[in-house]
Amino acid sequence: MIDDTLRPLIVAKKTDEAHNMVSFELVDPNGAELPAFSAGSHIDVTIPGGLVRQYSLCNSTSERNRYVIGVWNDGNSRGGSKALHGQVHVGDTLQVGLPRNRFRVPRSTKRAILLARGIGVTPILSIADYLKSQNIPFELHYVFAMMSPGSFLGMIKESNFAANTKFYFEASELNQLLNPAAILADQPEDMQLFICGVDWWQDPIINTAKQKGWAEERIHVERFTAKVPAAILDKVFDVKIASTGTVYKIPGDKTVTAFLEEKGVKIPTSCEQGMCGTCKIKVLEGEIDHRDKRLSPQQKEEGFFLACVSRAKSDLLVLDL
Ligand code: FES
Repeated sequence: MIDDTLRPLIVAKKTDEAHNMVSFELVDPNGAELPAFSAGSHIDVTIPGGLVRQYSLCNSTSERNRYVIGVWNDGNSRGGSKALHGQVHVGDTLQVGLPRNRFRVPRSTKRAILLARGIGVTPILSIADYLKSQNIPFELHYVFAMMSPGSFLGMIKESNFAANTKFYFEASELNQLLNPAAILADQPEDMQLFICGVDWWQDPIINTAKQKGWAEERIHVERFTAKVPAAILDKVFDVKIASTGTVYKIPGDKTVTAFLEEKGVKIPTSCEQGMCGTCKIKVLEGEIDHRDKRLSPQQKEEGFFLACVSRAKSDLLVLDL
């Protein structure tokens, strides 16, 4: 069910970056080079308990000996960040997928503004390093999240882009607050914007950019979580776990993976958008309502479905679990 490109990596370092913010340095157990990555990439990390979560790589793309990820201990975590903070230590092994990138720096980039808040700075760090190495002018405006001030400060101070970075503290009388409208105003046509932070922070800034005439293709956004579409009341149907015979009624506003996880049946997931294939399961009986963008016609013919998005046309699906 899990991607066969997963490889075991060892935690070589675990560093407290700030309150609730930790970074992990992951290396090959035999000291081998790791697959190269481009700035803005992320990796899938399999967490104790089988959850798969995506974390941005924040080190330099020129480094082939390590991957560095930052993890925020999110109070709303469904288990991923909490387990990494609490249960994973130096010397432990984590299963890690190949780097993938949905936050690429276009080749044509001539100059850039980078905006980040909190843990959102992690992909931005590798982008800043890359831009600097290419002599592409940029400025990084980084807002420390209120509960984790100073996160990644040491990394930035030691980086090649320290002089390009301006820091902001939230709700601090000592500091000027980030003023996105001023930063985004009157910028040249070839300026690119890269932004990453929680949605409530970045969405208004993206809107401001659009109002100030920034074309969509110049606004590059990374989101921590796939935007979950508003609940639509879908068909209610039953799933039966073949190995135990237990039947669960999947409500119309929940996915199979989310509902089963609530009930203690964990199916590994990653993208939760029907794109990566991590949650692929064989259906032994019943008619599937395929809603993914990944499975081939042959895989569908063979009875597989992606449980993070797909549903049932029939009243019951029997899952090979
Ligand atoms: S988790 Fe990626 S396809 Fe379901």
